Amino acid sequence: MMLAMSDASPLRSGTGRRPRALSGAQPTADSYHLGNYFGAFRQWVALQDEFEAFYFIPDLHAITVDYDPALLRERTYIAAAQMLASGVDPARSALFVQSHVPEHAQLAWILNGITGFGEAGRMTQFKDKSAKNGSDNASVGLFTYPILMAADILIYQADKVPVGEDQRQHVELTRNLAQRFNHRFGPTFTVPEAHIVKATAKIYDLQDPTSKMSGSNASHAGVVDLTDTPKQVAKKVRSAVTDSGTEIVYDLAAKPGIANLLSIYSALTGREIAEIVAEYEGQQYGHLKVALGDLLAEFVGTFGDRTRELLDDRAELDRILAAGAERAREVAAPTLELVYERSGFVRPV
Ligand code: TRP
Repeated sequence: MMLAMSDASPLRSGTGRRPRALSGAQPTADSYHLGNYFGAFRQWVALQDEFEAFYFIPDLHAITVDYDPALLRERTYIAAAQMLASGVDPARSALFVQSHVPEHAQLAWILNGITGFGEAGRMTQFKDKSAKNGSDNASVGLFTYPILMAADILIYQADKVPVGEDQRQHVELTRNLAQRFNHRFGPTFTVPEAHIVKATAKIYDLQDPTSKMSGSNASHAGVVDLTDTPKQVAKKVRSAVTDSGTEIVYDLAAKPGIANLLSIYSALTGREIAEIVAEYEGQQYGHLKVALGDLLAEFVGTFGDRTRELLDDRAELDRILAAGAERAREVAAPTLELVYERSGFVRPV
């Protein structure tokens, strides 16, 4: 492939193929939680029809902070099983492990060369994470993490990137890098769009309903893990912090606790919040909690069974991930080849 600088990219979007969606979720906990499920996986699943989808487990990102290799290995399998249990369909979407596709890291290195030091230093997630243990102790990997994320996205010429609000800045950086590369070296990358989840799909901590449900929250009492037992979940819902007053209304500012329970209820049942509020008119918080506790207990019961089934057959999981990586490389390899060509590298014969 010898291309003049002015040649249009043969790989970019708009050349007749289906638009592509891409996302990843870090395997940094023993389980994903309800916030990941509603905030991410359900959107991933919904996008599978309209988009050619690429979903992956960013294990290379997971080593940018202190970690345990044995745990990383196990968590990678759990992550894959939970994505599948959520409805990611390997017949329609490529589901894979990031490190199985070496083109991510190869492209990241090239993008390092066009990213400004100051530009990377302005990433708020890096500033937050590195401040935690004193910035002198943060790894260079943590600093360059968003550039690897940009490579994850650009290597597939992705059009849409479903992520939470906290990742918006990283997608913005990705767009800037794509445009910069295209401008300097000729049209190469599709410039992606972030797809931020709706506010009602956002799930908050049951014990602190003003902060989002997160695996890194100090206490797990307010976090519903997808591996929780039905009993544990019912208890967590029963002990959820609610607001003063008694009336069940959706008011995010004045009653964040009840609003959160209503959001979860709505997300689980697919029913409108207004309809649920009408149903519980005149009832106590306790009624809502019991009903939601039952619904969630049933949900984690089924979800847990499905996940365990998948984890019990590692050979099958390995096969699914291998097929996903193979499909991913079919798309990633030509992009990397074009990038090398544009960058002026002599290619091996
Ligand atoms: N940084 C993302 C997160 O922490 C995970 C991720 C890595 C990702 N690479 C990505 C998300 C590419 C979307 C696209 O949630």
